[in-house]
Amino acid sequence: MFSYFRNRSLLQFRSFFFCTLVAFACFLAPHSASAQATSAAYPTAQPAPEWDDPSIEPRVEELLKKMTLEEKVGQLVQYSAGQPTGPGTGRTDYNDMLTKGQIGALFNVVTAKETNAFQRIAVEESRLHIPLIFGLDVIHGFRTEFPIPLGISATWDPLLAERAARVAAREASATGVRWTFSPMIDITRDPRWGRTAEGNGEDPFLDSAFAQAYVRGYQGRHLNNAESILACPKHYVGYGAAEGGRDYNTTEISEHTLREIYLPPFHSAIDAGAGTIMSAFNSLNGIPTSANPFTLKKILRQEWGFRGIVDSDWTSVAELMNHGIANDGATAARKAFQAGVDMDMVSSLYHDHLADLVHSGQVSETDIDEAVRHVLRIKFALGLFENPFVDEKKESSAMLQPEAVALSREVAERSVVLLKNDLLSSATPLLPLSPDVKSVAVIGPLADDGAAMMGSWGGLGNGRDAVTLRAALNQKLGEARVHYAKGAEFSTATDAQIKAAADAAKGSDVAILALGENGPEMTGEAASRAHLDLPGRQEQLLEAVVETGKPVVLLVFSGRPLILPWAFQHVPSVLAVWFPGIQAGPALVRTLFGENIPSGKLSMTWPRSLGQIPLYYNALSTGRPATQDEARFPNGHDEKFVSRYIDESNSPQFPFGFGLTYATLRYGPVELNKPELRLDWLRVGLNKSSSSGPAPLLASANVTNSGSLTVTETVQLYVRLEGTSVSEPVRALKGFQRVTLAAGETKRVVFTVPAEAFALWNDQNVFTVEAARATIWISGDSRSGTGAAIEIRNKAN
Ligand code: BGC
Repeated sequence: MFSYFRNRSLLQFRSFFFCTLVAFACFLAPHSASAQATSAAYPTAQPAPEWDDPSIEPRVEELLKKMTLEEKVGQLVQYSAGQPTGPGTGRTDYNDMLTKGQIGALFNVVTAKETNAFQRIAVEESRLHIPLIFGLDVIHGFRTEFPIPLGISATWDPLLAERAARVAAREASATGVRWTFSPMIDITRDPRWGRTAEGNGEDPFLDSAFAQAYVRGYQGRHLNNAESILACPKHYVGYGAAEGGRDYNTTEISEHTLREIYLPPFHSAIDAGAGTIMSAFNSLNGIPTSANPFTLKKILRQEWGFRGIVDSDWTSVAELMNHGIANDGATAARKAFQAGVDMDMVSSLYHDHLADLVHSGQVSETDIDEAVRHVLRIKFALGLFENPFVDEKKESSAMLQPEAVALSREVAERSVVLLKNDLLSSATPLLPLSPDVKSVAVIGPLADDGAAMMGSWGGLGNGRDAVTLRAALNQKLGEARVHYAKGAEFSTATDAQIKAAADAAKGSDVAILALGENGPEMTGEAASRAHLDLPGRQEQLLEAVVETGKPVVLLVFSGRPLILPWAFQHVPSVLAVWFPGIQAGPALVRTLFGENIPSGKLSMTWPRSLGQIPLYYNALSTGRPATQDEARFPNGHDEKFVSRYIDESNSPQFPFGFGLTYATLRYGPVELNKPELRLDWLRVGLNKSSSSGPAPLLASANVTNSGSLTVTETVQLYVRLEGTSVSEPVRALKGFQRVTLAAGETKRVVFTVPAEAFALWNDQNVFTVEAARATIWISGDSRSGTGAAIEIRNKAN
């Protein structure tokens, strides 16, 4: 049994607390308000990352001394030198700029030959021979494409993400790319936002676990290993809270919500040693996040002690003008730089203005030196000064290694979430299908489209590397038993296409529909949707096939939860399959036929209707919570004036944490080993071993598999606090474990619950444990189960 809670999250929350204590100590002693000074008092709490090696510092200082102001500014300048994929500066004179030492980093250069060519100019023709770092959006694989991150997060297995990131690092580094703009760890509560596909969903605890896993996978144990690449958690911060789910839109987030929901994944990524971080596009409470000293300096540098690079997002420095906080490029550069952005991605405004701003006294050279230190420190840590080039001969053999492809399939299998699996008239569920099935119809625009399996950030993934559902079915059953009809394009369909598909279904025992979004176009950046149904005429296609009376399995390919009320009512078996990557077909076929038993769980609430959005499980209570959550229409006066819709349930279609399997699981009552818990919150941060008193709190419950197959279940632990100084979520995830249960088996699942599980950002703006009534659930999702109560007491009572 693997307990994620105990192994990793505890550590993560310890340092989370520690940094808050740092903040609190800073508050008590404002004159010593640097994380550096304060952390000296608690030397064991937050070790510096491996790359922040003191032996590097003399080399950094020695080089810095030799640099002209122009060369220093050059280290803070970054361009996209490959395929232009967004608004740019129109520059193409990179070679000339490199010889003058005017560029610190390039990105979107993706072959060993090209990275070596640029690097040769930087290290052989520039005065100080400072190497470049090459970056790229390696989001869910480089050449071996894995499922999209939202799918990976549905595995609830951060170790899988770590292993996938390691594969991506190995492939990317073979081309000279040593920096990925990943992981994307924005909390996403609104599926209209296209970038939901790129993240780990709505929960800070789960997201933090994945954030750390990705950082570990990319950066490896040693950053100077040639196969390690820098991680860049993004987009710092709050970008996912875009109003209306419209990309790049404004965000308003209270400090309480920022501290409890949006910041923890970033803090966790920094704690795991991420060497860089990307400031975002959005404005946060009126201040753009690429010019926000509160988040970039106070929190990131002072509270968390970050000493790596803050990179802007693509032209987010120039966009300060559109935000209305700078009327010219020089002011935009000054504001971003002074707020804490070290490197300017694509805008070219640092290149154009930083030196002049120093000459005119508006920016100090001491501050420039500090930013350059961040960059040089990382370049030394990567070993680029010793090994700036990559071996071009080894590039192609690094790609698509058999173990990498096998891992891609494993992750894809584990990412599938079984949403529905009704019993047929024979009293057996439709899935898994019998291998003896005479014939299947496979229908839909996603049934045989390799490129679409890559999702929105396909990296160097190639549709031709993908095995489609149709190809895998052909292989499993033989072509004669597989009746393929496309049925529809993504956004259109003719009546004839739909009819041909219905005919294929009529002539088969079962119909498998592969419907959903066109990954590369309808999900990801700049792909927000105001309608979350099946695009085009796919719903009509589905209805026509269901009408044939044949049993239907619907595979929903999407970068977000889709609103599909008709399908959930009429289709017996539905699976969320995201965009599964190059091994889509084999993973799905093995799942359909029961060679892989579904174990995925939603990392994001699945709404019933658009009007409910944003809908997330860890919401605050209202003063008038609805008691009959499922009722659609109020029956009496009492139920009228409560927080609800008059025309829709409050409940989601499927809650966060939900996912079925090919068995029925039963949860027994939650038992706690003590009725009350006395916690001294100051000890929470200072005492590394245990902060919850002499004997830890243990919460346990029996979980029984009453089916006939061995299955794996992710058992979840949730907490609610009441009686605290601020309102806390009605449930908050605080632990999870994967448990494998043989047919008929019952296991007692035990969680050790640390003090951190009861912590909150309180009305005094500090993290602490307050006296409270806590409820603890152990359940298979965020809505089911009955909680057990425990009194939390602290020093004061
Ligand atoms: C995106 C980032 C990405 C960057 C570089 C931006 O448009 O917001 O996520 O890393 O481009 O490609």
